[in-house]
Amino acid sequence: MESSFRVFNKPKVELHIHLDASIRPETILYYARKKQMDSHIFENLETLLKNVTCTKPGSLTEFLSKFHYYMPAVVGDRQAVKRIAYEFVESKAKEGVVYVEVRYNPHLFANCKVDPIQWGQKEGDLTPDEVVELVNQGLKEGERDFNIKVKSILCCLRHMPEWSPEIVELCKKYHNDTVVAIDLAGDEGLKNETFPGHLRAYEEAARCGIHRTVHAGEAGPPSVVKEAVELLKAERIGHGYHTVQDPVLYDRLLKMDMHFEMCPWSSYITGACDPDFTKHPLIQLKKDGANYSLSNDGPLPMGASLETDYNIAKTHMGFNEEDFMQANINAARSCFLPYKEKKELLDLLYKAYGMTDL
Ligand code: NI
Repeated sequence: MESSFRVFNKPKVELHIHLDASIRPETILYYARKKQMDSHIFENLETLLKNVTCTKPGSLTEFLSKFHYYMPAVVGDRQAVKRIAYEFVESKAKEGVVYVEVRYNPHLFANCKVDPIQWGQKEGDLTPDEVVELVNQGLKEGERDFNIKVKSILCCLRHMPEWSPEIVELCKKYHNDTVVAIDLAGDEGLKNETFPGHLRAYEEAARCGIHRTVHAGEAGPPSVVKEAVELLKAERIGHGYHTVQDPVLYDRLLKMDMHFEMCPWSSYITGACDPDFTKHPLIQLKKDGANYSLSNDGPLPMGASLETDYNIAKTHMGFNEEDFMQANINAARSCFLPYKEKKELLDLLYKAYGMTDL
């Protein structure tokens, strides 16, 4: 498939992107009509986008509020869940992404065996387990049709530790059947009382060879990153912008070759970083030769695609073609593919970038 990408029109690897933040607006409208939802926001594409897209910096909470508008249209519907996954793969292929790890929390799409049932839905018969099955089907059909490689990551949510035992069980059940890792997302400000549930899930994940990434140091302080590394045994950090504020920790993570999943546009929209991109921590990571990659996080509520992130890096952070190649090689060597597949991915990149095996 011909990539529409202009900034870095070569094969790319994306490690941090949320399925529920990557739904096509047309698909939301389709299911809103199917469910006969009469909210004015579903009148047309323009009204929908106006309501669900952030255009200027706000808070992470404000950003998350956008999901309340559009998720009710697609949740609890088997066809919708599978279609979202399939269309996601198509969109990534069009951007020239050759390997992507997409993440989501299955409970947010379900309407059965989930407490409390989300988005004001009535109880139905779609369980979190079946959600994973449907997403897997959509992803695998997408892989077949669009010739790219896709794996998935299941997210625990910081405010819902009660769901985490099932998340890790689903990671085990579908291990390598697209699912490669566990994640923890949500409000980093929540502490103590919610943490033990997630900690137990991560301990079980580590015991069973399930890979681990954690959203940390995005809006939160370096201590959350430290906790992710030391207690949750994170192998990658989602965002991690604020790590640089603790030089001792930052230095330690540099030495550990810790991977940082960087999402520049997202950090602007959620207010996680200074809105002046020339002061972004990614610049320091690049200067220090850190192990980082570039991802979008979620095009729908962010109102921008992966190309925007590459554009920002090029325009405001001094990225050249070589830096982009390095970021994608970093992503490939830090991805959660089994060894043999990871090597194949790296070989594909080296070849496309005109580099001999390093
Ligand atoms: Ni994220």
